[in-house]
Amino acid sequence: MKSVLDFKARKGKAPISMSTAYTHWEARFLASSPVDCVLVGDSVATVVDGESTTFAATPEIMARHTAAVARGLAGEKFLIADFPFLAARKGINAAVECATLLMRAGAHAVKIEGIDGHEDVVRHLVQSGVPVIGHLGLTPQSVNALGGYKVQGKTDTAAADLLRQALAVEAAGAVGLVLECVPTDLAREITDALSIPVIGIGAGPHTDGQVLVFHDMLGLNPGFNPKFVRQFADGNKIVAGGLASFAAAVADGSFPSKKESY
Ligand code: KIV
Repeated sequence: MKSVLDFKARKGKAPISMSTAYTHWEARFLASSPVDCVLVGDSVATVVDGESTTFAATPEIMARHTAAVARGLAGEKFLIADFPFLAARKGINAAVECATLLMRAGAHAVKIEGIDGHEDVVRHLVQSGVPVIGHLGLTPQSVNALGGYKVQGKTDTAAADLLRQALAVEAAGAVGLVLECVPTDLAREITDALSIPVIGIGAGPHTDGQVLVFHDMLGLNPGFNPKFVRQFADGNKIVAGGLASFAAAVADGSFPSKKESY
């Protein structure tokens, strides 16, 4: 999948797989994988920098990582970059500046959390030729307002409100929606109600696709085991084993060998 047109055309056809990437290194793995598309998430702040929230990501930090990922993908995948904390809440000019940085860095679309109060920003970006993907449910940038990283839309009222917001995202012109940590039935209802692809994370099997953080799905984030993550590889074991072998080979003098020396 290389463009927003490929992305939109998959609605109701074949499930879309999406992974995060933050560096050129991850992007090169993804470029030669069958994973459909790539998100430079503001989770870079937590996964790469060890912060406890995503607040530390800035437009400049997101642009730098987007550029690195775009170089690694070399045009092979549809690439989305996150609008960081409050970047959609400072008015249209600030949003245009942020989108300029991300699109110049190589993104094909931007992802924006929430919708209430910045519908005009989404509409303006879309009308300016910037594809926008919404993000609802558990929106990490609102973790303080949500009272923690919790499943959203559990009551009838909360579910109805999420459906209303999802329809507002589509009405503002978004080309897709990420739905995070909502009950399976609600995710199915929202997916059925929208004509744009809905990508779930912790939203059950009935969305149009699934996104996971690269490090989580590859077992590179030891100790982080939320219910919605499946570890498709034991990356931690492989890396730990390799590091132990290196240290042992240095300690016993078997590295470098004659063949590895000039
Ligand atoms: O920042 C991120 O990694 C995300 C995904 C988890 C959807 O927004």
